[in-house]
Amino acid sequence: MKAYVDDDLCIGCGTCPEVCPEVFHMTDDDIAHAINTDIPEDVLGNAKEACDSCPVDAIDIDD
Ligand code: F3S
Repeated sequence: MKAYVDDDLCIGCGTCPEVCPEVFHMTDDDIAHAINTDIPEDVLGNAKEACDSCPVDAIDIDD
């Protein structure tokens, strides 16, 4: 599974890299970016929690 951040929606709240730093990080322009490789199995739960925690629903996780 992979994570995707819609950079038109992200308001840079910083929650996702806090909840799952293995998958999400903030870019220089304060928008979140997700790794473009498969989410490691051991952090998949955290990645999904980050997705659920996003206040503007900017994160998608799918195959
Ligand atoms: Fe942006 Fe949502 Fe993460 S607003 S910083 S994608 S939690």
